[in-house]
Amino acid sequence: MKTTEIYFRLIIVLLFIGSFNHIHAQGKKADVPMLKLNNGIEMPQLGIGTFAISYEQAKAACLEAFGKGFRHVDCATAYRVEGAVGEAMKESGIPREEFFITSKLWVSDYANGKTLASIDTILKRFQTDYIDLLYIHQPIGDYIEAWKDMEKAVAAGKVRALGISNFDASNERFHAIVDNMKIKPVALQIECHPYAQRNDIREWVKPYDIKIECWYPLGHGDKGLLSDPAIKTIADAHGKSIAQIILRWHIQEGFSVIPGATNPVHINENISIFDFALTDAEMTTMRSLNKNKRFFNVTLEQLDSWANRR
Ligand SMILES: NC(=O)c1ccc[n+]([C@@H]2O[C@H](COP(=O)([O-])OP(=O)(O)OC[C@H]3O[C@@H](n4cnc5c(N)ncnc54)[C@H](OP(=O)(O)O)[C@@H]3O)[C@@H](O)[C@H]2O)c1
Repeated sequence: MKTTEIYFRLIIVLLFIGSFNHIHAQGKKADVPMLKLNNGIEMPQLGIGTFAISYEQAKAACLEAFGKGFRHVDCATAYRVEGAVGEAMKESGIPREEFFITSKLWVSDYANGKTLASIDTILKRFQTDYIDLLYIHQPIGDYIEAWKDMEKAVAAGKVRALGISNFDASNERFHAIVDNMKIKPVALQIECHPYAQRNDIREWVKPYDIKIECWYPLGHGDKGLLSDPAIKTIADAHGKSIAQIILRWHIQEGFSVIPGATNPVHINENISIFDFALTDAEMTTMRSLNKNKRFFNVTLEQLDSWANRR
């Protein structure tokens, strides 16, 4: 082989390696802080949500998010996109251990011999053999028996941690789980954002070292919240968007936060919140915006009526 041909081949190989590194760098895990949960495992503080979007949108959003460095995905059987998350994980080529995957057991899968089979179905949809964090979605129906079956799934190595979702609806049901069950929840998932900062519920979890994970962290895209003038002033000072300031506030409050986003610009913005910090004065301003305004309002009675829905 001539020297020129050897050089030529070498250049081709180097270009190939270079382009591979580029692709790999695109998908590199971002430096998201980890929250240590009360069972000792760690959860990335920021994840991407998958509620109220189509299967195709969920898969595309997850792939985009993984490319930007997200590794934590919040999902639920009720969203009907667990399969999309599983496909995205597989297609990304990222090792399973890098992901932190959450789902939520729906009410029709509680107890009566259904819970363990439903967990196996979730595993199949995710194309994995374990779920990092499994929530019980609603504090209704036979949630106690469902929890006992979820504990069995932990013992079988199919689930690493258990969580409660929407148990802010009933203090009595919250205590029925946290005081009486063998396995304590590591997290409570609730609606929480600057307009509903949930200070009362944050007191409930403190004695148990249960993390708060915020759904609707951007008010489900509420235009009023996303154009709030006080937050805009802070955003301008940092050269960031209002959404980024809100997410940064969540992080500095110590919450886990799972914004949903399908727009690639939003996905990129949402993970670009670790290169600045809000000052104490800015945190005080953010806290002053609380007006206990929920965007999703449902009574415990309404929730209870869901238990009988198929
Ligand atoms: N446990 C429960 O009962 C429960 C209930 C509701 C939600 N959740 C979970 O919580 C997650 C978050 O809630 P959510 O998705 O309903 O609401 P959200 O995260 O508060 O808001 C999502 C909306 O904000 C927009 N958005 C995202 N990033 C943005 C940015 N940087 N700038 C401007 N707009 C932005 C999105 O638009 P684009 O799509 O156009 O990007 C979408 O319309 C859910 O996806 C789900 O995983 C749990």
